[in-house]
Amino acid sequence: MNREDALSLLKRYVKQENLIKHCIATAAIMKEVAKYLGEDEQKWEVIGILHDIDYELVAEDMSKHGLKGAEILSEEGIAEDIVEVVKRHNHTIFGDYEKPVEIALQAADSISGLIIAAALVKKGRLSDVTPKTIKKKFKDKSFAAGCDRNRIREIEKLNIELPKFYELGIRGLMNVKEELGLE
Ligand SMILES: [Fe+2]
Repeated sequence: MNREDALSLLKRYVKQENLIKHCIATAAIMKEVAKYLGEDEQKWEVIGILHDIDYELVAEDMSKHGLKGAEILSEEGIAEDIVEVVKRHNHTIFGDYEKPVEIALQAADSISGLIIAAALVKKGRLSDVTPKTIKKKFKDKSFAAGCDRNRIREIEKLNIELPKFYELGIRGLMNVKEELGLE
């Protein structure tokens, strides 16, 4: 499966534009991290696109998040290893991740919102956001408070320091900035 197929599958289940953007952003960061680590860029990107496919279906019920997504993807005939990562990404149920792809997804899922929020402060100019900007915003716990700093820190388990991760994250989002409505 490639990015395009994953995106059209996502759009069959997810209608909110902001949620689609969140998945695009998470995927773009996953791809950069995969490239940096020498992992499978296309697979990591597809996982990022699909990880929240059940979000609208499970609505408020977070005890089903990921599990429902896995069910959908299995029915769609998606590869079992992708299905498993989507299922397990709900850290409120699973947690304690050891696989690089799972660790990266926790961190990418959480930092995507932080970088986008930082760009919105700069009137949507992502090109004005630097690792230094993100370092500051990371420390300001009230800024984009929903972006879990502990999940971002997971990336350190892959021997990626936070400044490096900020750089990879910003670069990833720059690659899809038009789709995110940023400059
Ligand atoms: Fe997510």
